[in-house]
Amino acid sequence: MFPNHRPRRLRSNDTLRRMVRETVLTPNDLIYPLFAVPGEGFAKEVVSMPGVYQLSVDKIVDEAQEAYDLGIPAIILFGIPADKDVDATDAWHDCGIVQKATAAVKKAVPNLVVINDTCLCEYTPHGHCGYLGESDLTGRVLNDPTLELLKKVAIAQAVAGADIIAPSGMMDGFVGAIREALDGAGFEDIPIMSYAAKYSSAYYGPFRDAAESTPQFGDRRTYQMDPGNAREAVKEILLDLEEGADMLMVKPALSYMDIIHRVKEASNVPVAAYNVSGEYAMVKAAALNGWVDEERIVLETLTSFKRAGADMILTYHAKDAARWIG
Ligand code: PBG
Ligand code: ZN
Repeated sequence: MFPNHRPRRLRSNDTLRRMVRETVLTPNDLIYPLFAVPGEGFAKEVVSMPGVYQLSVDKIVDEAQEAYDLGIPAIILFGIPADKDVDATDAWHDCGIVQKATAAVKKAVPNLVVINDTCLCEYTPHGHCGYLGESDLTGRVLNDPTLELLKKVAIAQAVAGADIIAPSGMMDGFVGAIREALDGAGFEDIPIMSYAAKYSSAYYGPFRDAAESTPQFGDRRTYQMDPGNAREAVKEILLDLEEGADMLMVKPALSYMDIIHRVKEASNVPVAAYNVSGEYAMVKAAALNGWVDEERIVLETLTSFKRAGADMILTYHAKDAARWIG
């Protein structure tokens, strides 16, 4: 081999490196998550996520416009309702917080793609992603009754103008149930992005502060996946594809790059990776201490998700990344 083969020849200057670069990050790859709360003129920074805010609908609209102007094609909306109840009423009510935010953003920035997270955890007092029954709050999420509620949520979100429905509660059969409900209500053209391989992860901690959705008892291990399992992720995504998922998500991203790769290989639809709150918090904390170069770390990490197989990346760093990419 040596000295005929010298891979360094193709690394000798930036122009050449640009020519041979295999993976290039663009703002088109990014999806920006936002947290909507009731009120007006309200913005409250999430303590564990510096630079991320709970925002009232008017501020969400400004933020959405800014993201779109930076070339980011999509946002995903989460909602923190004024009131929570065991039926997750605010999640499926016409006047629910996400429905309001969705309608307002679609009116102000019609070309921005608005994804709605479709789940119950922000809307229930117990903080679980499903229905537990009216009185027997033993911690066992009831799968099939939850599907009935998720169908209502998806329809309410579609009526409000959501462009993509993204169910995140890891209930069995949720993609099929939502597909049927959307089709039955005349929304057969609205795609479903399934949180198909979502792991039970400590990396969601800061999000639960932001979304006020920490489970009040127990944990999510009876519905989210065990971090030790990879083969099972392939099973999950194949089921979701069979049920009609248009896009698949892997979550978290950073410690699940192998799963992103496997899902990409095992499917023929766009794959999204969720660069979750704990991943953001770790980078922010180190950057604020001056221990790492935030711009370089973020762009390297996002590029790596894409290299692993992600076609799109949900990230709280979306606006910064879009600016840095230029
Ligand atoms: C819940 C949901 C979670 C996230 C998005 N939707 C986490 C959870 O299971 O509590 C996490 C996002 C993040 O950590 O950034 N359906
Ligand atoms: Zn949930």
